[in-house]
Amino acid sequence: MNVLVTGGAGYIGSVCAELLLDEGHKITVYDDLSEGHRSAVDQRARFILGRPEEPGDILKAVETARPEAIVHFAASALVGESMSNPGKYFRNNVANGLKLLEAAVSVGVKKFVFSSTCATYGPPDRIPMTEDLPQRPINPYGESKLMFERMLHWYHELKGLEFVAFRYFNAAGATEKFGEHHRTETHLIPNVLQVALGQAPRCEIFGTDYPTPDGTCIRDYIHVSDLAQAHVLAVAPGKHGFYNLGNGNGYSVREVIRTCEQVSGHKIPTVEKPRRPGDPPRLVASAEKAVRELGWKPRFPKLEDIVATAWAWHEKHPKGYAD
Ligand code: UFG
Repeated sequence: MNVLVTGGAGYIGSVCAELLLDEGHKITVYDDLSEGHRSAVDQRARFILGRPEEPGDILKAVETARPEAIVHFAASALVGESMSNPGKYFRNNVANGLKLLEAAVSVGVKKFVFSSTCATYGPPDRIPMTEDLPQRPINPYGESKLMFERMLHWYHELKGLEFVAFRYFNAAGATEKFGEHHRTETHLIPNVLQVALGQAPRCEIFGTDYPTPDGTCIRDYIHVSDLAQAHVLAVAPGKHGFYNLGNGNGYSVREVIRTCEQVSGHKIPTVEKPRRPGDPPRLVASAEKAVRELGWKPRFPKLEDIVATAWAWHEKHPKGYAD
């Protein structure tokens, strides 16, 4: 298929573009490089430098690529930042997303695959979390992604757009070529591995008084290649709906740090800090629906294996991408 990947220079987008190319799809990447890296764009893909704020830019890119499917990763994606700068989240994730949806409908795109998030649920009533749980986000990031989900629902109802929206839990790990390099790193695993590499003196633990066994937040870490694999399944005709993507295993912040110590062989000094605003205590997926309906099967369900691929990438690219 001819597929337009927005945000294809970013962490998850780059890995997904790589896998779609491996599967024989033709890929155009649209990315403004505000968070992404030019060198994270697979050389086999066509690249369009995006200026999403400029009127007509998104439509022009869609008209140039003439895709059968759009896989939409481009977004602002930091919970903490969204609590201090909500406007950025509603602008990038909702307003620019709407431009893309309108463009998709106007050129007759057959399939729209969207990166949503477990942050759309807020603190869940039960664990593991299934797709039918109420969605009550507690930060603007989750709210902006939920708003886009609702737009997708209406574009399906009213314009017949077939979509798959994936609610990712915590993406982690790397392929041989592409890994996690954010300009300002806030995510737990890369932050901990920076300490292992000797680039930071210690790792901060945000909140030790949560109602969890060791007092730190629990998350469900999912390998970026397994996320990408789900997108490959989703672009096929006939797939439609909302799906969680996670492994169903929760790990606390302290457990993640211990695993990083074991994998890297380095001691990780820590310092305890107050809670980070907007963080729910525990998020663990049930991805049964994706397994059942899409035939999805994670290849890296174990945290050690996920961290090992991240560690291999960071050791090889201690400064991340050059650009
Ligand atoms: N954390 C620390 N120290 C750090 C970094 C993080 O203790 O240096 C804690 C956080 O407070 C949180 C946990 O580690 O409890 C995981 O934090 P991350 O920042 O790695 O990821 P989030 O859980 O905030 O992930 C959220 C959403 C995802 C979304 C992601 C995008 O749950 O759906 O943000 O940034 F994709």
